[in-house]
Amino acid sequence: MTILDSSEEMLQRARDALASENGSVRERVRLVRGTGEDAPRILEGETFDAVLCHGVLPYLEDPEPLVRALTEISRPGAVVSVLTKNAEALAMRPALEGRYRDALSAFDSDRDTGGLRVVTRGYTILSLLGMLKENGVEPIQWYGIRVFTDHLGDQRPGPDLTDVLEAEWEAGLRDPYRRVARLIHLIGRKR
Ligand SMILES: C[S@@+](CC[C@H](N)C(=O)[O-])C[C@H]1O[C@@H](n2cnc3c(N)ncnc32)[C@H](O)[C@@H]1O
Repeated sequence: MTILDSSEEMLQRARDALASENGSVRERVRLVRGTGEDAPRILEGETFDAVLCHGVLPYLEDPEPLVRALTEISRPGAVVSVLTKNAEALAMRPALEGRYRDALSAFDSDRDTGGLRVVTRGYTILSLLGMLKENGVEPIQWYGIRVFTDHLGDQRPGPDLTDVLEAEWEAGLRDPYRRVARLIHLIGRKR
């Protein structure tokens, strides 16, 4: 498994997390610093059976080069998994938190300030599907993530955590709920 990230700080977090794993896990993980856009060159043409890009597209002004790179490093038949912010439901979080002025400005925007206090952009599921298809990835399924719980911030779940997870899972699978999720998660297969 190869973890690639452009930030040394984030790679250090991964290194710290890996340190508590046993040797059989540690020896199968490699950490590489670089941009996703540059992955085909940095990884010297290596290709993979599964390529995951989670939470990175919101930080990019132009997503196309990264999506192209993801598909370049995917073998034929590989699973490609992309998780990003949902541009069509940006008003949900501020409205449910009682910030109605912010909710009003979210309706006509594809960006907002995320949990890390950085302005990031969202994507519509249609634009994401289109971008992946153009790059040779056939969609298998898409899910909504954080439908009922996104506005709860850092509030810890109670003893009903199992029910919360089950409700989120069901909502994330079906319309109309998944369409108002904070995040969208698309899984496809490289042709
Ligand atoms: C919200 S974090 C997600 C981290 C991790 N993918 C996860 O799912 O836990 C966003 C990460 O994207 C990284 N990043 C931003 N732009 C990037 C790029 N062009 N190429 C590679 N990593 C990038 C940041 O350094 C940061 O670690």
